[in-house]
Amino acid sequence: MIIVGGSSSRDLAKELAAILQCTYVQAATTRFPDGECYTRIDHKELDDDVVIVQNTYPDGNMIEMFLLQDAVRRLGAKTITLVIPYFGYARQDRVFKPGEPESARVVAEHLDMVCDRVITVDIHKEDVLKYFKCPGEDLKAAGAIAEYFMDKNIDLVLSPDIGAIGRAKSVAEKMGLKSDHLTKVRLSGSEVKISPANMDCAGKNILIVDDMISTGGTIIAAVHALREAGASGVSVACTHGVFVDNAVERLTGSSLDTLLCCNTLENELSHISVAPIIADALKR
Ligand code: R5P
Repeated sequence: MIIVGGSSSRDLAKELAAILQCTYVQAATTRFPDGECYTRIDHKELDDDVVIVQNTYPDGNMIEMFLLQDAVRRLGAKTITLVIPYFGYARQDRVFKPGEPESARVVAEHLDMVCDRVITVDIHKEDVLKYFKCPGEDLKAAGAIAEYFMDKNIDLVLSPDIGAIGRAKSVAEKMGLKSDHLTKVRLSGSEVKISPANMDCAGKNILIVDDMISTGGTIIAAVHALREAGASGVSVACTHGVFVDNAVERLTGSSLDTLLCCNTLENELSHISVAPIIADALKR
């Protein structure tokens, strides 16, 4: 097996190759002066099963993925597996208003043109994998998050809304703890109102778990509500640290104690590695 690291996921791809003890090949990606993507894999051939590790977010990374798919096919890859740690456009998985595209399907169908298998991590909607004709699997980061926080004296695991309760429950079960959820009402694109939790949070060290943090609005409101409810500590972990609009600065300026994310998007807070779970899936 050969692991090809695209520019969005180099560290993760290297870690994967180290775990699997297979060849790591780094794509050399640059941008032309007009912003278009140029990439090259400096090898004569890739005559093996090839795994490309690359996000489809932001848009430029998706184009790089398309180019890498073509490059590895031309170099003779026997099979092509796409590891997409953060699958961009998964949130627009259906037409919400007439005239909209089904964005997730569009992305999936284009990726599907040159791949034999696809692996995602905590994709926003698992149904998106049905748009691929090839086999697809969504891996869960809950185990990696639970392991990281196992010795951090957490009392309770919460999701910021009822939709994410499954993830919080899964993390809590792995840590031998209870889980619950907060009630979230979205006021605008960047503003949400979180109702005080039903459970007794006073004096508790709480871990909030979400699939992604984008503007940070959800988490800032959740941390505020939990502090009001008397929580003694609030840690936050998410799978995908998207962090737009200075979210990290605003989050670290709030009253949370710890903020971490997985390395599906590589940034200064991505200290929880999903490489072991991806490696297990690739071995399968
Ligand atoms: C919502 O369904 C997601 O699970 C996240 O809670 C949401 O995308 C976070 O967005 P933001 O950080 O902008 O509040």
